[in-house]
Amino acid sequence: MRAERIFTNARLATMDPALPGLGVVERGMVAEAAGRIIYAGAARAIEADEIVDCEGRWITPGLIDCHTHLVYAGDRAAEFEARLQGAGYEEIARAGGGILGTMRATRAARAEDLRAAAKRRMAALVAEGVTTIEVKSGYGLSPEAEYKCLEVAKSLGDAADISSTFLGAHGFPPEMARADYVRLLCEEMIPHVAAHKLADAVDGFCEGIAFSPEEIAPFFAAATRHGLRVKLHADQLSNLGGAALAAKFGALSADHLEYTSEDGAAAMARAGTVAVLLPGAFFTLREKQLPPVEAFRKHGVRMAVSTDLNPGTSPLFSLLLAMNMAATQFRLTVEECLLGVTRHAAAALGRSDVGVLTAGAKCHLAIWDIERPAELVYRIGFNPLHQRIWSAA
Ligand code: NIG
Ligand code: FE
Repeated sequence: MRAERIFTNARLATMDPALPGLGVVERGMVAEAAGRIIYAGAARAIEADEIVDCEGRWITPGLIDCHTHLVYAGDRAAEFEARLQGAGYEEIARAGGGILGTMRATRAARAEDLRAAAKRRMAALVAEGVTTIEVKSGYGLSPEAEYKCLEVAKSLGDAADISSTFLGAHGFPPEMARADYVRLLCEEMIPHVAAHKLADAVDGFCEGIAFSPEEIAPFFAAATRHGLRVKLHADQLSNLGGAALAAKFGALSADHLEYTSEDGAAAMARAGTVAVLLPGAFFTLREKQLPPVEAFRKHGVRMAVSTDLNPGTSPLFSLLLAMNMAATQFRLTVEECLLGVTRHAAAALGRSDVGVLTAGAKCHLAIWDIERPAELVYRIGFNPLHQRIWSAA
């Protein structure tokens, strides 16, 4: 074996599913060739063109933010102030603000301006060792504006791996009847998105202020017919049975889940659907209802943690802080948090080539100035990243 580059004198949290916990290797090394890991494990002699001495630092897989709404125009600072004065999120949404406010700004924005704004937001994630980002559309809500946002999402792939998700079912555009929009989604937009490979999956918002389960079902059925996987914003503000609905369609993930019942958790386990926990939205909306973490553990549902970066419910630009919030607010363990931004986040995107340090995976690494993995979770507002390795190709 000959490597292009080896990272020696390192402690590894490999996240290798064949090893317990974080898959720790104390005296470890990673070897890379052509952008792929060709060896990760105990130190051994491997010839290489370049040697990077990690001086005892920890290496984790490059982090994965598996749920973001990175592409949007404008901001919702005024809405934030209104909520501080007592206005409710759902009340603002019903009055035509919230998602529809961002929709108006996003429709009016030029693609290059959307891209420039998204780039700035992305830089904050990248600075913390994030190498894979899921990016949703969902603030266009018309064919033209949704495709524009998905094109912008794809164009961000020059600085991280991007998984793009068509969140056409995020809200209802005011210019047409609900049933007409559902038909437009199923008969025109999904076929177009699939044919032009604009997205890897679709997503919806199943909630009283958004889509009903009866409206999500045909949307998911159309996506499945066109070879797109599905994801769902489920049970965030109330229990409409979103988790079970997602599971029924073999969803990659169901996200939020504060109001999910134990039956919903069991259905997710049977379907292999990942639970994506979003403590930034929980915090911002001052939620009280905790997601059923104990039920996810009991049934063996994999949990991921993400920023939910968006202008309304989660203006959070730090995956490290998302982990801290998941631990402090949701009582996740350090191990659950770290698996939640690596291997389990990859599973929420249907990927197995990222989120682990194992032979064959992409050589996306985060090298940290820390003494123990818990440090990545426990500090608030401190970034111990030493170096980020993102292997394009
Ligand atoms: O993930 N829940 C729905 N969608 C987003 C927020 C939408 C918004 O308010 O802009 C979320 O929380
Ligand atoms: Fe979201």
